[in-house]
Amino acid sequence: MGPIAVFDSGVGGLSVLRELVAQMPSEHFLYFGDSANAPYGTRPTAEIRSLTLAHAERLFDRGAKALVVACNTATSAAIGALRARWPERVIIGIEPALKLAVSRHPGGCIGVLATEATLREEKFAALLQRCAENCHILKCPCPELVEFVERGELDSPALTAYLARQLGPYAGRVDAAVLGCTHFPFARRAIRAALGGAAALYDGSDGTARETLRQLVRRGWIRGGSRGIVTLENSRPSELPLSRRLLALPRED
Ligand code: DGL
Repeated sequence: MGPIAVFDSGVGGLSVLRELVAQMPSEHFLYFGDSANAPYGTRPTAEIRSLTLAHAERLFDRGAKALVVACNTATSAAIGALRARWPERVIIGIEPALKLAVSRHPGGCIGVLATEATLREEKFAALLQRCAENCHILKCPCPELVEFVERGELDSPALTAYLARQLGPYAGRVDAAVLGCTHFPFARRAIRAALGGAAALYDGSDGTARETLRQLVRRGWIRGGSRGIVTLENSRPSELPLSRRLLALPRED
């Protein structure tokens, strides 16, 4: 049986891949990052959808047994189209871990950090409506953060200054922040510092990995035995050393 394909606009989905590998060490994974076209989050929805469909097609043609869309932006723009096109396939998306944050901080104030595209899509509006009853939820777009991570800048002075500008207004006001873009967990430490140090941070990688495992178990498609092989590919091959570095970072730092 083929590998589990994992797709993102760039290197961000590696934060999901490391969780998938931790939960399913015997699986083979084929990761594809589209850094040549990143960021997706500032593109029109139709463009994000057509890029995602084209990459999914290539990954299925290569025999992937499942596809994990490890990108909140591509999930918001394209998950419906992907499932309509390949109704028999296992296709898992990711969404901001807002339900988890709300369940842990009832009555609290929660910031959602995500790309512009994720925050404007209907999928997020529906999620917000389901979660907003009990909490005060603030949208915190961080349009340039994806590019910092794509450059491998996880703790530079420029990143600190950028986050101070973007998140300074929320510092001390939010009980929790949802990292609603798969690039953001790599800047977790800098984000926590910009929010004043006390906010709890949540991301969707654990939930996405668990859902993938559940779906594969249900179909009897789990690979047992020896450790699986992880293959990293990128539409900009010069990103591969950074990809390997990010994948090796500890999950909680
Ligand atoms: N990693 C993607 C996400 O989870 C976003 C990246 C982008 O804007 O390219 O939303």
